[in-house]
Amino acid sequence: MTSDFTGKTALITGAGRGIGRAVALGLADTGAGLILLARSADQLAETQAMVLGRGAAAERVRIIPADLGDEEQRDRAAATALETARVDILVDNAATVEPLGATAAIPAEELRRAFELNVIAPTALTAAVLPGMLDAGWGRVVNVSSAIVARPAAMVRFNAYAATKAALEAHTVNLAAELLGTGVTVNAYRPGGVDTAMQAWIRRQDPERIGAAMHERFNLNFAEGTLVTPEQSAAALIAHLSGDDTGAIWDVSTAPVES
Ligand SMILES: NC(=O)c1ccc[n+]([C@@H]2O[C@H](COP(=O)([O-])OP(=O)(O)OC[C@H]3O[C@@H](n4cnc5c(N)ncnc54)[C@H](OP(=O)(O)O)[C@@H]3O)[C@@H](O)[C@H]2O)c1
Repeated sequence: MTSDFTGKTALITGAGRGIGRAVALGLADTGAGLILLARSADQLAETQAMVLGRGAAAERVRIIPADLGDEEQRDRAAATALETARVDILVDNAATVEPLGATAAIPAEELRRAFELNVIAPTALTAAVLPGMLDAGWGRVVNVSSAIVARPAAMVRFNAYAATKAALEAHTVNLAAELLGTGVTVNAYRPGGVDTAMQAWIRRQDPERIGAAMHERFNLNFAEGTLVTPEQSAAALIAHLSGDDTGAIWDVSTAPVES
């Protein structure tokens, strides 16, 4: 199934680099208008320039710099996004892998910040765009998760990341059930090990902090070339979007075949 989202508008969080940027470029190729959101305005501008370089109309590509971990900025960003058009496709991709380290040493405030960005922000953005999707009888929400949810014990000292992504998946499946029959689908996506700044940041962490085993594993994955590119992962996500699946946990390795 070839994706054609001409006339639709997609809001992509974390669109300044990595998987979010690749999703933005891939969705631009399907004809969708784009709203690109992250904190770094310069990175968003780079993504915007890349999208325009692929022939997208300038008025169909907007950037909104905002910190999604800050409720006020997030609400303002959502209102700005909806000023000009309904959002038809929401890709909740921005997230933090922090705080890392021994769980007992993690201050509650840091844990709260992780939940704010990884769970509350996707939920709040969905709530903001949902009325428009329901009016239209069509919408796509994708929450970018992680394989850590399938094997939480495999990533010791990543407790906050495991807990937040598990919560995000539970939210996804529950909301999908609530919205059955409305035309709005809600799915989670596990992108695989992807060669991005987030992976590079983890590789740079002190082995004392993340444990020697995790440090070695992340560095080995990179050295052995087992990571996929952001473009490969984004293509797998986008391939799912035309279908009517809902409440599913998509995975980079189970992408439908594009024709
Ligand atoms: N890379 C992997 O191997 C991997 C594996 C499993 C799951 N994932 C998931 O895939 C998603 C994307 O990861 P990635 O590897 O592409 O990460 P990345 O390269 O670090 O990109 C993260 C994006 O999110 C934005 N972001 C971070 N904090 C934000 C905030 N407070 N408010 C708004 N935007 C924020 C960043 O921009 P600013 O810093 O400018 O805000 C950036 O654009 C995440 O949900 C991650 O958990 C990645």
